[in-house]
Amino acid sequence: MFVIGSGAKHLEDEMRQFGAEILEVELRRFPDGEKYVRVMGSGSEATVISSTFYPQDERILELLLIGDALRERGFEKLRAVIPYFAYGRQDRVVKEGEPISVRAVMRALGLYYDELYVVDIHNPKTLSYFPGKAVNISPARAITEYFRGKLGEGIVLAPDRGALRRAKVVAELIGVEYSHFEKHRISPTDVEMRPVEVDVSGKNVLIVDDIISTGGTMIKASSILKKLGARRIFVGVTHGVFAEGAIERVSKAVDELAVTNTIPTPVSKISIVPDIVSLKPNRG
Ligand code: R5P
Repeated sequence: MFVIGSGAKHLEDEMRQFGAEILEVELRRFPDGEKYVRVMGSGSEATVISSTFYPQDERILELLLIGDALRERGFEKLRAVIPYFAYGRQDRVVKEGEPISVRAVMRALGLYYDELYVVDIHNPKTLSYFPGKAVNISPARAITEYFRGKLGEGIVLAPDRGALRRAKVVAELIGVEYSHFEKHRISPTDVEMRPVEVDVSGKNVLIVDDIISTGGTMIKASSILKKLGARRIFVGVTHGVFAEGAIERVSKAVDELAVTNTIPTPVSKISIVPDIVSLKPNRG
């Protein structure tokens, strides 16, 4: 039984097409701006789904309120499915006095939820902050199915070594080679970025990453690939956290930009719903 929060309304129709059973929930505001939540129906297990894109803080609070309401109704086993997990990039203290924000959010959710499922969390190690079972859902199936026919005998690239694992899985599912960009110092003042140990000349390239924010990473990668003679450049990314104008800038720089629907955007052409509706509850 699914409960759909405000951050997953855009997934509801598709979830219903997959036959997902959905528990009704009333979400509105009190006149003073506070959130009102009421869950209808009863049961023993529920999966609450909501992506925490902007306004992030409000959607996180809503998840806590829904969790509290479900416990109040007697639900014993609660799972949270958070396709895009806000605060995922705040995973370390950069300046003294800062919090590890992702840890704070995970711990708060752990007060109500027994299990947590996140699509392509920025740093999978941070899932250990969640007190219960926490699972990272790979976007590889979805990205692969979307780009397989377009890429042909191409290459899958990660924009940096840290993003290589995701690109490797996609490449292996498609059956093509993969690599990542690396910085090379060519003089004391000059750093060059280029893909390692692959020749992209005349080939289609799919760049795979977890997030596009300003689009700077993808635009830079695309301009390098064009200089190296790449044929068509595709970008397949999990979360489209687009800053103002980023969709247009990246779209202009590449042949096709497609992100998954963890966040609803005009280029959210890849669906992660099949991966979510097929999640198997961990009973006991
Ligand atoms: C970095 O660690 C992330 O994986 C992305 O590469 C980064 O957040 C993309 O940011 P932008 O679109 O602003 O270059």
